[in-house]
Amino acid sequence: MSAARPVLTLADWRPHATPPSDTLIERLERGAVLLFPDLGFALNDEEQALLDPAWVDRGRKNVSLTPLDGHLNGISDPGARRIASQLLERYYRFSLNLLEQLFVAYRGNLHHPTTSLRLHAIANWSERSSWRKDDRRLHIDAFPSRPIHGDRILRVFSNINPDGQPRRWRLGSDFESLCRRYLSDQKGANPLHTWLLAQLKITKRRRSDYDHLMLRLHDRMKADERLQEEPANTVDFPAGSTWICFSDQAAHAVSAGQFMLEQTVLLPVTAMQDPQRSPLAVLERLKGRRLA
Ligand SMILES: [Fe+2]
Repeated sequence: MSAARPVLTLADWRPHATPPSDTLIERLERGAVLLFPDLGFALNDEEQALLDPAWVDRGRKNVSLTPLDGHLNGISDPGARRIASQLLERYYRFSLNLLEQLFVAYRGNLHHPTTSLRLHAIANWSERSSWRKDDRRLHIDAFPSRPIHGDRILRVFSNINPDGQPRRWRLGSDFESLCRRYLSDQKGANPLHTWLLAQLKITKRRRSDYDHLMLRLHDRMKADERLQEEPANTVDFPAGSTWICFSDQAAHAVSAGQFMLEQTVLLPVTAMQDPQRSPLAVLERLKGRRLA
């Protein structure tokens, strides 16, 4: 995908139509955002009543479900918990089905799903955040407490705003050029530090050098005022649309919007059509050694 056309709009795509060509996977793996402008996710009446940030527990960014064990976080009212579980479970099935239809090669390889309902307006939430957690600043996604050792972060998003407001993103330059800009002097993780973080259960397992470098990239991008002020592609994702990207690779910032569903899944690098396009492979080429 060229930097000039980072979003591929698929207005004519319909489920069960002709099998998607390899081109879609190729575009995705090159870092594109795939946009389905007319593929909405409809809420029923009781789910619509959840569209109020007052439901979210104080200090929580969103309501989240781990669908495989039914664990729900971020919402306390018993009635609202039941409806949120039902909604997030439905969205999990919708997005997994979408991914498996679009990317046949990934079937059976998508793991560790987490589903979230984001109710806060971007501006209201972000103003309370530190710069590191401020998603209005251009970044790639990396998990501080959940090392993934090179697995890909694949995300599906649906704008469920009931008033027709778009969700606005800015998209940055390609992954490799960001690595060259921000990680050329960056060493691997300190083994004692990563051991301690895992022992103290601050991280779910030990951070690899890959995780360490991805977190440094995330932080250095967000901290760099010059990057934040550079021209970037602005994209409006309309209410009633769905979009998909590898968010560990496509540099993004959220500028505006409220009410969204989001599905995260992990994918092993070996399940990609072209593993050489993974952030792990790019970083290993630049560093000249194994990182995970
Ligand atoms: Fe992000």
